[in-house]
Amino acid sequence: MKNFAAQLLLVIIYFLINSRNGIEASTHDNNIDHIKYRIPEEQPYRTSYHFQPPQNWMNDPNAPMYYKGVYHLFYQHNPYAATFGDIIIWAHSVSYDLINWIHLNNALEPSDSFDINSCWSGSATILPGEKPAILYTGIDQNKHQVQNLAIPKNISDPFLREWQKHPQNPVMTPPSGVEENNFRDPSTAWHGKDGKWRVIIGAQNGDEGKTILYQSEDFVNWTVNPNPFFATDNTGVCECPDFFPVYINSTNGVDTSVENSSVRHVLKISYLTKQHDYYFVGRYVSGQEKFNPDVTFTGTSKDLRYDYGKFYASKSFFDYAKNRRILWGWVNESDTTQDDIEKGWAGLQTIPRQVWLDKSGKRLIQWPIEEVENLRNKQISITGKKLEGGSTLEISGITASQVDVEVLFDLPELENGEWLEDPSEVDPQLLCSKQYESRSGKIGPFGLLALASKDLTEQTAVFFQIYRTSNRYLCLMCSDQSRSSLRQDLDKTTYGTIFDIDSNLKTISLRTLIDKSIIESFGDGGKACITSRVYPLLAIEKDAHLYVFNNGSQSVVISQLDAWSMKQAEIGHEGNINCA
Ligand SMILES: *[C@@H]1O[C@H](CO)[C@@H](O)[C@H](O)[C@H]1NC(C)=O
Ligand SMILES: *[C@@H]1O[C@H](CO)[C@@H](O)[C@H](O)[C@H]1NC(C)=O
Ligand SMILES: *[C@@H]1O[C@H](CO)[C@@H](O)[C@H](O)[C@H]1NC(C)=O
Ligand SMILES: *[C@@H]1O[C@H](CO)[C@@H](O)[C@H](O)[C@H]1NC(C)=O
Ligand SMILES: *[C@@H]1O[C@H](CO)[C@@H](O)[C@H](O)[C@H]1NC(C)=O
Ligand SMILES: *[C@@H]1O[C@H](CO)[C@@H](O)[C@H](O)[C@H]1NC(C)=O
Repeated sequence: MKNFAAQLLLVIIYFLINSRNGIEASTHDNNIDHIKYRIPEEQPYRTSYHFQPPQNWMNDPNAPMYYKGVYHLFYQHNPYAATFGDIIIWAHSVSYDLINWIHLNNALEPSDSFDINSCWSGSATILPGEKPAILYTGIDQNKHQVQNLAIPKNISDPFLREWQKHPQNPVMTPPSGVEENNFRDPSTAWHGKDGKWRVIIGAQNGDEGKTILYQSEDFVNWTVNPNPFFATDNTGVCECPDFFPVYINSTNGVDTSVENSSVRHVLKISYLTKQHDYYFVGRYVSGQEKFNPDVTFTGTSKDLRYDYGKFYASKSFFDYAKNRRILWGWVNESDTTQDDIEKGWAGLQTIPRQVWLDKSGKRLIQWPIEEVENLRNKQISITGKKLEGGSTLEISGITASQVDVEVLFDLPELENGEWLEDPSEVDPQLLCSKQYESRSGKIGPFGLLALASKDLTEQTAVFFQIYRTSNRYLCLMCSDQSRSSLRQDLDKTTYGTIFDIDSNLKTISLRTLIDKSIIESFGDGGKACITSRVYPLLAIEKDAHLYVFNNGSQSVVISQLDAWSMKQAEIGHEGNINCA
């Protein structure tokens, strides 16, 4: 009993600190060690400007939308623990700028036979008359997956706080040829020229992963199309399908229902067995309700992914306020479940990205939304600085644990690139790891050392290396976590991708958003993205450093480098926003 007063004091301090930071304290939390760990000073990995719930587990982003001046993000959440749970619900947050957020009460919780065992992922569609509707997956009383409809209780509430489940739920049950526990994640619906709504659902049947299409006139009575919209073998269930048009030769976004000669279509699938988000540019044949990708899935590193690091279950929406399409993706942890329990949280969302079709028409470009630039604070710039082979330059004067950095490198003649005998045989991830072993090259490796300790024992190298083949040039982009932390119990996989570059390419850009335990990198203007999670022991808070380096034998020039310390985003509960 002697310790009781001290314990009580700690609990009170904990409550004060956490309420100041907008963290909801849970009342049954009386384990002192646990509480001490959660004091912000001892939370070096909790992010400052990425979206995170106040506590506990988060996975997929759900139903992102813009509605009457407000951005909404719902997300898969275990309200009871920092681990995935038997009960997953829809948490809900709103924002005016996609960066600062207000957490609201949960939007969807298990309540009826059609969702009594969880409310899983889904999407929003804005119906005529500006009426938002959500289709989501319910885990029903038999633990089967069914699709349900929910609409706002009070359409005049600008935050759409409360949602009402439709009396005809479930509106879709597993059709024949679909496993009843692999039928989930309805997409945003689109409106065909015949006036009917269409939606696709992720599914599986044996070895076949597929998305199946449903049609409806009233959004309540849905009819399944007997032929799959898209199917692949040996990929597991096609989770979280996202289907949308993109303009040809424009960075503008376009409403999900647009279908004409100005657009092409993109289908994104989160393949469960691969744990990655793959996308396909192609042709939507509306009469036949089929999607024909320009390039088929190969199951190799040639397939296009939104991100070659950690990024899954993503979802996009058309932001009609700014005429752009915005992409959200879930980034999970790379530490252990026990670490997550001790941290009291797990899971991040990336900084929302604007997406559009590259001029080539072959791939998408992604770029952090412009609003993140409002957090830019103190700036450091470097221009026209030559980086000899083997040199390292510190970018000092910024908060290296919380920074946005953009570098433009001038390249030497590409003929000086490393020779690659057979690019079709290359596994970029392996090449990135090999590169690390040899530690040198011709043009590159050059790039950034993020979240590095002063002595460089801890560092995450994000870099490029240029290769040439008999008829083209290639750029390898890597994020090397192998030296990211002195801690042993972490997933330190090195990520990489390789892409074609123009034979006349004179410069290449790298933009990296660093935030405590996440490093999001955008190569060559957003052609290739890699997100990683790192947990340094030394390179935290004021002991984190940022460097530019060149380990190639050829020198490169920093044409322009700008780095900004980032302010903390205001993320908190309604009536209790954290004003950092
Ligand atoms: C609906 O929301 C509006 C705006 O917040 C509010 O004035 C009104 O009282 C709400 N109606 C109901 C029935 O809650
Ligand atoms: C549902 O839609 C189908 C196909 O359009 C139609 O045949 C059926 O009558 C509809 N059912 C109800 C209850 O409206
Ligand atoms: C396609 O639809 C968009 C959006 O409605 C419109 O701006 C564009 O002009 C259309 N293009 C054609 C060729 O009709
Ligand atoms: C989550 O993290 C683990 C460990 O790093 C990784 O193996 C797994 O692929 C990740 N899952 C997703 C969906 O990113
Ligand atoms: C975009 O425009 C450029 C030049 O006008 C053209 O070469 C290119 O083919 C266009 N892209 C697509 C996907 O049509
Ligand atoms: C750069 O080269 C040095 C010297 O060989 C090596 O110690 C270092 O690890 C290399 N850095 C990277 C990021 O490859």
